[in-house]
Amino acid sequence: MTNDVIIHDVVVVGAGLAGTWAAMTAAENGVKDVAILSKIHPLRSHSGAAQGGIAAVLNNVRPVAGTGPRGPLEQIPPGEDPVDSFDLHMFDTIKGSDWLGDQDAIEILVKDAPDVVVQYEHMGCVFSRTPDGRIAQRRFGGHSAPRANFSADRTGLVLLHTIHEQALYHNVKFYSEWYVMDLIIEDNIARGVVAINVLTGKIQMIRAKAVMFGTGGYGQAYKVTSNAYANTGDGVAMAYDAGAPLMDMEFVQFHPTGLYRHGFLMTEACRGEGGYLINKDGDRFMSKYAPEKMELAPRDLVSRSEQTEINEGRGVMEDGQGLFLDMRHLGREKIMERLPEVRDLAIAFAHVDAIDEPVPIQPTAHYSMGGIPTTADGEVLANAKGDLVTGFFAAGEVACVSVHGANRLGTNSLLEASVFGRRAGHAIADFVKGGAKLYPVTSDPVKRNHQQVQQLFDNDGPELVEDIVQELKTTMTNKAGIYRNEEDLKSALDTIHRLQQRFKNIRVMDKSSRFNTNLSMTLEAKHLLTFSEVIVQGALNRTESRGAHSRTDHPKRDDESWLKHTMAHKGEDGRPQLSYKDVTLYWDRFPPQERKY
Ligand code: FUM
Repeated sequence: MTNDVIIHDVVVVGAGLAGTWAAMTAAENGVKDVAILSKIHPLRSHSGAAQGGIAAVLNNVRPVAGTGPRGPLEQIPPGEDPVDSFDLHMFDTIKGSDWLGDQDAIEILVKDAPDVVVQYEHMGCVFSRTPDGRIAQRRFGGHSAPRANFSADRTGLVLLHTIHEQALYHNVKFYSEWYVMDLIIEDNIARGVVAINVLTGKIQMIRAKAVMFGTGGYGQAYKVTSNAYANTGDGVAMAYDAGAPLMDMEFVQFHPTGLYRHGFLMTEACRGEGGYLINKDGDRFMSKYAPEKMELAPRDLVSRSEQTEINEGRGVMEDGQGLFLDMRHLGREKIMERLPEVRDLAIAFAHVDAIDEPVPIQPTAHYSMGGIPTTADGEVLANAKGDLVTGFFAAGEVACVSVHGANRLGTNSLLEASVFGRRAGHAIADFVKGGAKLYPVTSDPVKRNHQQVQQLFDNDGPELVEDIVQELKTTMTNKAGIYRNEEDLKSALDTIHRLQQRFKNIRVMDKSSRFNTNLSMTLEAKHLLTFSEVIVQGALNRTESRGAHSRTDHPKRDDESWLKHTMAHKGEDGRPQLSYKDVTLYWDRFPPQERKY
């Protein structure tokens, strides 16, 4: 066995909110030796790209009486009645999830929310403010009260900097630009990871008593995405390859307002602050699809409505694939105070100033509702019965706890990453201090990963990684995107199988060791192919429409057959084996209803 090994008590993979909260909390609660590995600089983690807010019932603001559902907000004078409640936040989240979210986990999400926001506040987080100095709140899609707590349109960035600073203060060690290639699970016990130091190309094993994944999502499987280049689903793919299950992978969220062609986020706060969506005829088309909530309907519904407008020829721009986000009526002052970042992005990349002109947008792959199934303490489930993988934790977008079910509400993701990252940190601290062992690694994963890289370098085949990834993205977008049907999904599955074969003949052009991005793109491409197969297989099997999974050949939700989570294990033939798991429902409080907005 190669013996160049690094050892820590806890190794966290991913330096976004979930991973950093977990590491910081474990360290704060007495675990001395906690390390985070991140394939990019920690402060470039994708949590920092979230713009509009973090949900929590704080009751700081309310709608001005008599001004309607999109009218102005005002701070609630001390002593006056609240407008928001835990039950309302729970109900909105459950309805948003199309009743696929586990209601016990949603209750924890909602009830832990105010405390987590207050903890950010105590750490010095720079929130926007009401005139009397409380944390400012705004409206967001699918939420029936203003509960998005924000920092202009840089909320994720501000939260990430705050928690990162705390992790440094608690002596968490950061390995920046270390790409984790493999998760080591033997006999259902997590024992560490194998990573490549991107700077040197050296491959090393990092052993630990507890391994935590906070590796984020997988939007890079799609052509137009709000996700960073780093979001290649490494965590879900590695967990699946190591024998852990994946849950509800078929539910992929499209955000309604990605900047046209680029896909960057034009935050939902643009609509929360009063922005309109209009088609080529100048119509606010959401009046047809969600007459009550209009532009603040949940994302699955707004993205589908946009796609219908586009498909029926009412799109804008030369190819008809865009729509307009119109904020002109908000005025310069509000845009400069509340939405400065999106204004700058639109100027830089679309040459459009939102103060004077509508901004072209289109739906963009944004968020993965599915992931590695966990308990509410971040412990990874080994199967649908609820057995655990010892020493393996996950939280945030890579995980599926499941609070978002079939469709996530905006601002519930920064919240989920924070709440469940923090809970995982406490659970890890209890686990380690409760006598967790550093289990030996009996195989030689470093050798295995060396061989994999050497094989890629030796390969002289004709295939290039760019071609394989481009074909995958086109296929996922056209055949497993906003609208799906059996024929397209079968064809997507065939394409993925073909691409997996082609991958065996891939040629890595750059064979050097330092900063070999050609190699890391190739390893990432393998991950993209692995979990895309799971998405498509889950979508093909689920013969209903629920939340973000919309089957034109099965347009109705079917609770009788499909009120259940999909669990996917890698079978012996290497293909996903699907089974199903009950959804946790509070039948007396939030029974399934028809979902209308
Ligand atoms: O639109 C946004 O600002 C994104 C927020 C989210 O995905 O929660």
